[in-house]
Amino acid sequence: MTNNFDTTTLQQQVEIEAGITRLFAPEDEGLRNALAAAKKAGLPEIQISAIQGKLLQLFASACNARKILEIGSLAGYSGIWLARALPAEGRLITLEISPKHAEVVRSSFAAAGVADRTEVRVGNALELLPTLQSEAPFDLVFIDADKPPYPQYLEWALRLTRPGSIIIADNTVRGGEGLRKPEQGVDPNQGGVAELNKRIVQNPRLRSLALALDDNYTDGFTIAVVLP
Ligand code: DHB
Ligand code: MG
Repeated sequence: MTNNFDTTTLQQQVEIEAGITRLFAPEDEGLRNALAAAKKAGLPEIQISAIQGKLLQLFASACNARKILEIGSLAGYSGIWLARALPAEGRLITLEISPKHAEVVRSSFAAAGVADRTEVRVGNALELLPTLQSEAPFDLVFIDADKPPYPQYLEWALRLTRPGSIIIADNTVRGGEGLRKPEQGVDPNQGGVAELNKRIVQNPRLRSLALALDDNYTDGFTIAVVLP
């Protein structure tokens, strides 16, 4: 009986997610092309879901974003969702450590028609972030890079934003690992995301929530608004 129940629930979850995607977050040619180009280039297929992409857009619109910072470009898929929420004079700066990935991203941005408002900067994010201070404040920061330095990325996001800005980090649920006590020495990935969550909930300048909305509700975003 338990099995039947579990199967039905899982199937329902898959159908609901597909239904929401179809209705609210359909991918257009630009997004589909970005996924195909990433696959062809051998990039890992670990991008956010379409629902998460639409949620990023929604938050960008909610804070009237003109300047967006992304830490970790991967395939450019999230960048396209974000860039499309920008006005014509808006700017998305996305940081990518791999020059090869950055080339794929630039080409996918161009194919999606957002080359004019995007900029891919290549290098280690912890070295690039201090150079962005003259371009701050950013209205939205999206963190989706290597997990161990997530707490440092958060500190930079706080320095580079303003009251009303929104900070979002991906993969902060991690099957529940991200909600437990940080164990830096044992698992640096768990340690990174759990420490980010801990710092966010303990920061009185932030109002926040983690949402399990990906990978059958086992992973997702932490979303934090910088308070006045
Ligand atoms: C991994 C990284 C991600 O950003 C993600 O969304 C999923 C997996 C990873 O490094 O395995
Ligand atoms: Mg991710």
